Amino acid sequence: MRKNIWIDTDPGIDDAIAISAAFAAGERLKIIGISTVAGNQTIDIVTDNALWLTELLGQSEVPVVRGADRPLIRAPHPAGNVHGEHGLGYVVPPKAARTLTSDQGAAAIYKAVMELPEGETITLVPIGPLTNIALLLRTFPDVSARIDQIVCMGGSAVEGNITATAEYNIWTDPEAAEIVFQSGIPIVMCGLDVTMKCLLRQEEIRQLEHAGEIQKQFSRMLQFYFDSAAYRGKGAVAMHDSVPFLYLLREEMFSGEHHVIHVSCTEDTCRGMTIVCDGAYTYQQKGEPKNVYVLKDVDAAWFGRELMERLMCYS
Ligand code: RIB
Ligand code: CA
Repeated sequence: MRKNIWIDTDPGIDDAIAISAAFAAGERLKIIGISTVAGNQTIDIVTDNALWLTELLGQSEVPVVRGADRPLIRAPHPAGNVHGEHGLGYVVPPKAARTLTSDQGAAAIYKAVMELPEGETITLVPIGPLTNIALLLRTFPDVSARIDQIVCMGGSAVEGNITATAEYNIWTDPEAAEIVFQSGIPIVMCGLDVTMKCLLRQEEIRQLEHAGEIQKQFSRMLQFYFDSAAYRGKGAVAMHDSVPFLYLLREEMFSGEHHVIHVSCTEDTCRGMTIVCDGAYTYQQKGEPKNVYVLKDVDAAWFGRELMERLMCYS
């Protein structure tokens, strides 16, 4: 049976690749809608990118909802150095012909979830800062009964990428992340522990470049990553945002640990750190539920093959 999913995103190069792979897995994943959130670029840019991408992929009937234009408390922190001034690397998308479904963010997500057929639930797949998800859960608490799990790209139980201690999505809106992680909803945390093992290599970008018009767009996005200071000379780039979707396709290809996770909401070097609070040495355990499944490992060869297979299927 196909799994209902809602994607919350800040496209974003790896977001665009992940969403394209998710649509290519339509036999397993039913994308009920997409909401945008300020993150990699401004809300205007990421929303235009989401509209253009769904049109490019022939999915113009899928609802796109404009979400939060900034984190709950912190200032926005666009990552133009990593995703480019238009958010999609070397691709400068034209204005989409399709229109926005709603600009009501969390309220529109709530409406879509509650309109699902009776008895059906949904998996939320946030792959940007968690602002919209926090607003949804706090504004409409009854929605939780229809959410079976949240499979998010974010966090790290090892080191960070935006700082030494924090991963970008969590660091951008730590208060939102703490609200979501303490919501009691089962969470699968696809953090840097596993996403930094989920790579595409330069030769695969070249393969995409010559595979077809849509794949050429993917390659022009991804090449920007390779040319960026973050990845220059590394020969491979992490496909962070594809991990939640490939986990949903074959969770047995991943392994992890159940933990209590709290998010540091300080202003210091620990801002946005996802802290494992039930470690073996932590003697003051509070007995909190271990509701976060932290992914630690993956069959990396399978990941690369599966992602490429999904991306290559567009004609
Ligand atoms: O740290 C990686 C995350 O930050 C990804 O979601 C990427 O798109 C950026 O938003
Ligand atoms: Ca993202």
